[in-house]
Amino acid sequence: MSILIKNGRIVTATDDYVADIFVEGETISAIGKNLPVEADSTIDASGKLVFPGGIDPHVHLAMPFMGTFSSDTHETGTRAALFGGTTTVIDFVLQKQGHSLKEALADWNSRARGTTVGDYSFHMAVTDFNEDTKAEIKEMVETEGITSFKTFMAYKGALMIDDRQMIGLMQEVKKQGGMVTVHATNGDVIDYLTAKHRSEGKLAPLYHYLSQPEVTEAEASGRFADMADYTGCPGYIVHMTCEGALNAVRNATRRNQKVFVETCIQYLILDASLYESNFEGAKWVMSPPLREKKDQQSLWAGINQGLVQVVATDHCPFMWEQKLMGKDDFSKIPNGHPAIENRMELLFSEGVHKGKITPNKYVEVACTNPAKIFGMFPRKGTIAIGSDADIVIFDPNETHTLSAKTHHMNVDYSGYEGWELTGKVKTVLLRGKVAIDDDKCLVDKGYGQFIKRSKVSGKI
Ligand code: URP
Ligand code: ZN
Ligand code: ZN
Ligand code: ZN
Repeated sequence: MSILIKNGRIVTATDDYVADIFVEGETISAIGKNLPVEADSTIDASGKLVFPGGIDPHVHLAMPFMGTFSSDTHETGTRAALFGGTTTVIDFVLQKQGHSLKEALADWNSRARGTTVGDYSFHMAVTDFNEDTKAEIKEMVETEGITSFKTFMAYKGALMIDDRQMIGLMQEVKKQGGMVTVHATNGDVIDYLTAKHRSEGKLAPLYHYLSQPEVTEAEASGRFADMADYTGCPGYIVHMTCEGALNAVRNATRRNQKVFVETCIQYLILDASLYESNFEGAKWVMSPPLREKKDQQSLWAGINQGLVQVVATDHCPFMWEQKLMGKDDFSKIPNGHPAIENRMELLFSEGVHKGKITPNKYVEVACTNPAKIFGMFPRKGTIAIGSDADIVIFDPNETHTLSAKTHHMNVDYSGYEGWELTGKVKTVLLRGKVAIDDDKCLVDKGYGQFIKRSKVSGKI
């Protein structure tokens, strides 16, 4: 099968030009003006933008968490991602404390293999670092193609590891050519503030926010950066929300040290005033919580300064009924927010359309950097000869409205209900197949492929 995409405005992290793309089988075989080729089918992309498929390196699909499971499965979540122009996601496997990494991987494979619609990879979350897990890290990197190891400095008693384990893990992961990624907030301080609010009868969603102040994130981000510096292990901080944490990384960067930073779309465009309503605020109960307008400005500036390299989602949806588990106690509201389908369109509308970032920067943070940082480039994350034909054809002028009534995520509310966006995903190719066209999904459950990733250098 071959497809010719004609006359689109191709935007990569570095280029912006009008040309044709010739797709043969699963990959891009030629790019140029007026390509002299015969194709099985032709797509006219005149007037449209043509981006590489989006890569969301932070999603939680069918994840057991806080006494329930996140509501998108690998099937529904990756299908929704495709509708929104994201062709590859990286999901989190969670080690159970007292058990092996291999067991956790087998558990996730039992849900993901043969069911995903879009391409996917895994991060391995290490929640119990000991001599046995140490030996398994090499196998994850060498055999499974899982080269990033997630840690939690919070969720005390469930997922959190202490600094002793963190240092040991970093030394081991560096040895094996991997990267340590981190949920960087101070779990002990959050635990104390949460207990204090509960004991005072302060139980509304607002107290979730007040139990995780900016300082908890700034402190842990700086501590993680210092440990990455000491061990020389490549490090990546997930879902950064605030100025204080960004400053901690800025200081590390001044010492000539590289720690990658991811923010998520919600932290760029939503703020903590949403918690002021009564229980409605549970829709945005996530960790870390939404912050202030000044933090949004710092994050947009951080993107343009190159301090923030990735915009992900931390997609972790729960049905409203699941959120109601915490109706009398904010600490029981499952933490997480749905956005896997909305990231590319929200970032375009709020970022590119409103002039906060350029189209090249858009592709860099949503497609190219995630591929480079996590060992998938140049197979994924760009439009180049030899790369997978993961391509998004995007109308920059079409307007549309977000709503739970029309989204494809398996969740019964939207954090962006009624938002008017400019710019819409029209057609999506995944490995040379038209996966989305005209608001229809044309690939089946099981089409998604597990992407084995390369060792990482910590440089891009
Ligand atoms: O609230 C969140 N972020 N839920 C998902 C788990 C995590 O911390 O990323
Ligand atoms: Zn076991
Ligand atoms: Zn987290
Ligand atoms: Zn997460």
